[in-house]
Amino acid sequence: MDPGLGPGLVGEGARWLQLSEVAADARFFGLGGRASGPRLRDGVYRLWNTDPGGSFEPGDDPLYLTMPVQLVVADAGTHLVFHDNSWDGTVTLREGEEGAGSGHDRPGCCRTRMEGGPLRYWVIVGTTPARVLNGWTALTGAPAVPPRWALGHHHARWGFRDAEEVRRVVAGYRERDLPLSALHLDIDHLIGHRVFTVDGARFPDLPGLAAELLEDGVRLVSIVDPAVKAEPGNAVYESGTADDVFVRDAQGREVRGVVWAGESVFPDFTDPRVRKWWGGLYAERLAQGFSGVWHDMNEPVSFAAFGETTLPRSARHALEGRGGDHREAHNVYGLAMARAGYEGLCELRPDERPFLFSRSGWAGLQRYGGSWSGDVATGWAGLRASLSLVIGLGLSGVPYSGPDIGGFTGSPSPELYLRWFQLGAYLPLFRTHSAISAGRREPWEFGSRVLEHAAAALRERQRLLPYFTTLAQLAARTGAPYVRPVWWRTPKDRALRDCEDAFLLGDALLVAPVLEEGARRRPVRLPRGRWYDTVTGRAYHGPGQVVLDAPLSGIPVLARAGSVVPVAAPGGGVELEVWTPCAGRKGVGAGSLAVDTGDGWEKPELLRFTTRVRDGEVTIEREGGGEVGYPIRVRGEAPPSEDRPGPRAS
Ligand code: NOJ
Repeated sequence: MDPGLGPGLVGEGARWLQLSEVAADARFFGLGGRASGPRLRDGVYRLWNTDPGGSFEPGDDPLYLTMPVQLVVADAGTHLVFHDNSWDGTVTLREGEEGAGSGHDRPGCCRTRMEGGPLRYWVIVGTTPARVLNGWTALTGAPAVPPRWALGHHHARWGFRDAEEVRRVVAGYRERDLPLSALHLDIDHLIGHRVFTVDGARFPDLPGLAAELLEDGVRLVSIVDPAVKAEPGNAVYESGTADDVFVRDAQGREVRGVVWAGESVFPDFTDPRVRKWWGGLYAERLAQGFSGVWHDMNEPVSFAAFGETTLPRSARHALEGRGGDHREAHNVYGLAMARAGYEGLCELRPDERPFLFSRSGWAGLQRYGGSWSGDVATGWAGLRASLSLVIGLGLSGVPYSGPDIGGFTGSPSPELYLRWFQLGAYLPLFRTHSAISAGRREPWEFGSRVLEHAAAALRERQRLLPYFTTLAQLAARTGAPYVRPVWWRTPKDRALRDCEDAFLLGDALLVAPVLEEGARRRPVRLPRGRWYDTVTGRAYHGPGQVVLDAPLSGIPVLARAGSVVPVAAPGGGVELEVWTPCAGRKGVGAGSLAVDTGDGWEKPELLRFTTRVRDGEVTIEREGGGEVGYPIRVRGEAPPSEDRPGPRAS
């Protein structure tokens, strides 16, 4: 079938193929976490959650978290298409071409081919990406708000030998005065990799260790894999067998696979009864002192020397009572596991919001938690892929994610580690992590210069915490991701639509990470309006491109004129950083602050502020009246008089 034939629908038995056209200028985004985006260029994108094995690079597709959700951005508007079908499939994209005024535009084309399941799709149309994402989360659920501590820095490693090593790492952070919020224990703290166990020889008193770390403000997060070692005497296996929770084949036999612990069985999370059973098991994690969970290997993975590294397609699943097989259940397995974990944690610890993030998932994962980029290969290409994944997931409705800083494999050069760290400091999940065979990832392992600059990034992250907690609330209320493509507010700016090496953090900040070795300056494409370099305070005017210094000490970050950024005040509490608005009526700026109400369920008040320049003075008001109530710090060079735009970008 030639996609050039135009829109239509072709049925092929249980399979079907849908063709659609988009405007010649349209760009495609989304489809879950893709390493080669965020702009999805011409190619075939598979819809089948897959562990690439080892590590991945930008050319690898699909990865762990796919979903049939595309965001299409064109001059005429933005729309999102969601094929509500969890079967295997592919989306083939071809961007259009404009005939440069000749009237011979070639439209873009999208072919969605599914191996089965219904043709049932939703189209959400809007004037702006913000409206469309708002509609998308109205359909699939509001993003869970992580507890405040989950927005700080996390340190993980596959291969902490014992409690002493964990203590040494945490002490390393403390002694150097580096903020640390959480430490993650990978599969090596388990007995022979069995889920919901603790190796008492290496971690003799885990609840005691957790309490001790908490005194330093550090929480423990536990890996949780779905596979359960199939052996008599394994309490989880025995309890699951008694309750008949494991996936079976058509003959009624348990489906077995091989994962870290050896021969294993897999809970059928598509059964509400099984979710309830699984959720109850998190009581053991809480009793061990863990504050959050990290779901892994839930595509689900079963190791195989050849063929697919997952369950057989014939494996049976409850599918919420409808019944079906793995062809339909595969892509929602991680999503259903997240639901089980989240609901279990809510029930077991009702006063605290759960912290959960998951490698695999599907549309709607955001209701239960976030994700991370998985085993990204260490290298400059992997660094770029990290950003693509975070932006793509956000545009697919999952706003909380981040990469393994430094990459999962091998040892990054000090420069690469630093640039990854500086990017990570502005992403929702800010976590260093690596494979058991990889080098260290503590910031002091790369020399004193890297340590100094990584410490500055950590301190800046701490300072921005009130902004991050506000962005988390905004994501829950509006669906807008924390990390947004630079075209978020100006989708008609075509040059911006093609810009993939920078992002907006909320409305206020534009972050331009360094993604190239040796770069000490970099071009930055600005959306329209006035932007301040947050280091020098110097103003630039978009739309256009500027070249900014990007020394090893920090990546360029710009603030939008008129924005109000809540930050930690030097003496404690919150202050409002106001970036000088443009003069005149059009120069009114704004910003929000979610008032901290802790890690429970109380919905924080969202204060809105507006700023303007009046008689040469920057003023700020609280919407709805009343005291501003927070100290103000005005930043950014004064606006030119008469509302002239100031230095213009080229
Ligand atoms: C694969 C995960 O992606 C990685 O982060 C983890 O360290 C290993 N599994 C071991 O659990």
